[in-house]
Amino acid sequence: MEKKILAIESSCDETAAAVVAATDNRQQMDNSTRFDSPIRYNRGLEILSNVVASQIDLHKKYGGVYPELASRAHAENILPVIDEALELAGCDKNLGDIEAIAVTYGPGLVGSLVAGLAAAKTLAYVFKKPILPINHWEGHLYSVWFGQKQPQFPALFLTVSGGHTNLILMKDHGKYEVLGSTVDDAAGEAFDKVARLLGLGYPGGPAISREAEKYNKDLARDFKLPRPMIDSGDFKFSFSGLKTAVLYKIKEIGELTEKDKTFLAWEFQEAATDTLIAKIKKAAEKYQPKSLCLTGGVAANKVLREKFAGLGEVFGDMKIFIPELNLTTDNAAMIGAAGYFNLLSGKREKWYDVGVNAGANLYEV
Ligand code: KG4
Ligand code: ZN
Repeated sequence: MEKKILAIESSCDETAAAVVAATDNRQQMDNSTRFDSPIRYNRGLEILSNVVASQIDLHKKYGGVYPELASRAHAENILPVIDEALELAGCDKNLGDIEAIAVTYGPGLVGSLVAGLAAAKTLAYVFKKPILPINHWEGHLYSVWFGQKQPQFPALFLTVSGGHTNLILMKDHGKYEVLGSTVDDAAGEAFDKVARLLGLGYPGGPAISREAEKYNKDLARDFKLPRPMIDSGDFKFSFSGLKTAVLYKIKEIGELTEKDKTFLAWEFQEAATDTLIAKIKKAAEKYQPKSLCLTGGVAANKVLREKFAGLGEVFGDMKIFIPELNLTTDNAAMIGAAGYFNLLSGKREKWYDVGVNAGANLYEV
C-alpha cells in the first residue's frame, strides 16, 4: 500500500514543498535492510517531487538572511511552490490521494515558520487532513532515508548546518540523544562569517569551497589555524575561535592577495572539517553505532563528504550514509520522510492543535 505525504518547509530562507510516497516492501526485504527497531520492515521512501524556491538573491546584498524579507518572500511563494509540488507529483489538487500534511513547526525564524504552517493548517482544515508537525532537526536526520538501504539503529549523526552543529545518537525512530552541540557558532555560520571576512560573498559555504578548490601545494604557508576543542574529551564543538583566528590573520597580513585568500579559505575548511570528523570518530568509538550519517547544509561540502566517507575504512562494520546534494540544504522531502515515520507512530495532530515553536529543540520530539 502506498501512502503519499505532502510536506512543507519554510523555517529559514527556502520556501519548499514536496510529495513523498512510502511503499511497503515486505516481499523484497532481506536481512540487510531490516530495521533493528519495532518497525520491522523496509518501507521504501520515494520522492515524487521536491520543489525549493531559494531566496539567496534576495539576501545576498545583506550578507545573511534578513528575517522580514524572508517572511514576505515565503508569503508570496508558499502557494505556488505547493501547487508545483502537487503538479509534479501528479497529485490531485484537492489532496484526494494525500494521507497527511507534514510541516516544520520549529526551530527557525518565527515569521518564516508561520508562513508554512498557516498554509499547512489551511489545507488540513479545508481538505480534512491530519497534520504531522516536524522538528526541523528531525527533518535533516531523515534526509538519509531515501536510498536503497536505510540506516540501522543505533545510528550516529553529525548534523551540521547554518543554525546547528550536533552529534546525535538516534536509538530508534523518534528516539534521540544529543551527545554534544556547539558552544558558540554553528559550523555553517562559521563558513558564512569567514566567507564575509575574506570578501567571498553569500552563502559562505559554497563560496569557501570554490575558493579552496584553487589551492595547491605552491600556495602553502608556514602557519596553521587552530582546531578548537578537538581534544576536549567531550562531544562539544566551538567555531567562534576559529573565525576569530582568521580575522587576526587577516589583520596581520594587511592587504590580502588572491593567494592569501585561497590559502585561508582552504586552511579554514581543513580546520573546520578536521574538528567535525575528529568528534564523530570519538563518538563512534564510544557508542559503536551500526550507521554513521552526515546531514545538514554543511554536508554539501565536498571535503567534508570525502573525509566522512573515509570513516567507512576506519569503522568497517558501520555503514556510511551521506544524502544527495539537494537533500543536504533545506528542503521539504526530508520533512516528508520524518512525517512518514511520525505517521507510523501515530503522531498526527488536528490543524487547530499545531503552532510554531521558533526555539524548539530535539529533546521535545
Ligand atoms: O541546512 P541549511 O540549508 O539551513 C539551516 O538549517 O541552517 O544549511 C545552510 C548552511 C549555510 O551556513 C551554508 O553556508 C552551509 O549550510 N553550506 C555549506 C555548503 N553549502 C551550504 N557549508 C560548507 N560547504 C558547502 N558546500
Ligand atoms: Zn536546515
